[in-house]
Amino acid sequence: MSAQADMLNQLRNRKPGHALPRAFYTDPDFYKLDLEQIWYKDWLFAGHDCELPKPGSYMTLQIGDYPVIVLRAADGTIRAFHNSCRHRGSRICPAEHGEARKLVCPYHGWTYDLDGRLTFAQDMGPDFDAAQHGLKPVACETVAGYIFVCVARQAPDFSAFRALMAPYFLPHHLAGAKIAVESTIVENGNWKLVWENNRECYHCRPNHPELCRTFPESPTVTGVAGADVDPTIAAHVESCEAAGLPSRFRIDTAGQFRAARMPLLRDAVSYTMSGKAAVARPLADSVTRDKIGALLLFHYPTTWNHVLGDHAVTFRVLPLGPTQTQVTTKWLVHKDAVEGVDYTIEELTKVWAATNDQDRRIVEENQRGVNSPAFEPGPYSPLHEGSVIQFIDWYEGAIERSFGSQRLTRVA
Ligand code: FES
Ligand SMILES: [Fe+2]
Repeated sequence: MSAQADMLNQLRNRKPGHALPRAFYTDPDFYKLDLEQIWYKDWLFAGHDCELPKPGSYMTLQIGDYPVIVLRAADGTIRAFHNSCRHRGSRICPAEHGEARKLVCPYHGWTYDLDGRLTFAQDMGPDFDAAQHGLKPVACETVAGYIFVCVARQAPDFSAFRALMAPYFLPHHLAGAKIAVESTIVENGNWKLVWENNRECYHCRPNHPELCRTFPESPTVTGVAGADVDPTIAAHVESCEAAGLPSRFRIDTAGQFRAARMPLLRDAVSYTMSGKAAVARPLADSVTRDKIGALLLFHYPTTWNHVLGDHAVTFRVLPLGPTQTQVTTKWLVHKDAVEGVDYTIEELTKVWAATNDQDRRIVEENQRGVNSPAFEPGPYSPLHEGSVIQFIDWYEGAIERSFGSQRLTRVA
């Protein structure tokens, strides 16, 4: 049986409301199918506009086997290219961030301008056509300070996500913010285990003492249903909406992305040990209320986000292998906020740095247990893990759509 047939067969026979079978978290062939059917076909969060402040600013990322470069071109637009030289394929930019007026391949010096055109290639003979050897473009879209890329030849429609996200995020001016600090950690777990852990707070009380000071562990906060009937959440949403901040729960029909604004606990306004703001200067000058809670957004498979009144924390997930995942966290503040005056890195990062490390440990223990041949997928809690069920259902639907199969008929 091919890996594709095996994967579809295991999805068809899986128990609804239960974790996936072991192969989905461990098998190298299934991991390759995840890359081909999801990661190489869909829009992925790369980074923020503000990380590319001027023409020639660039960042790189690795999407499975694809090295990609994202840069600000001479005309100020943000563009993306495959980071693979059109001569003999060398990676052109090895650094994660940099500035360059031109992209010069380190191997033999082929040189590309910021539009990807090949402008110099020494001694290639009279028949060589430089116009045929520009960098291959990667689809790239920006929305409200976020850059998304897609390595598929035919990128899927981006407009539905843009339409949902833009009104929620534009008031927070993330395009004009700055990255105060970032961290990248490697979690020895399959990317789906990282997401499953993110999508519930069933684990929060025993594991996240810092986060639980300000973030409610209520399943309606982390979840995908029920928020509209929770009176505390409903009152918060209505007051933020009245103040001009879109806040109502919204999710797309495929369940790939969701936005909602949730209250923090008691009088908390930020993810700090005290609940007080970590940054003296608000993130956006136009948002004058401080008790706006957290604007939550996820977009499978690469990003979840929390936007507060004083700062934003954004997360990027990239798979490194069947049981290894990279998680990059960025803390964004007002571009004029001054470290040591308006904020300290210690105060700003304490809660989520601790939470990330706790989640890494959880995911790694989850992976070790799932690696056991004795592992049998157990039931998710319908109350606390509804969002995990939602994530797994999205994953199953994405795989089915990608394979072009009909909705699977389950064996009960
Ligand atoms: S591989 Fe880039 S110049 Fe030769
Ligand atoms: Fe967690």
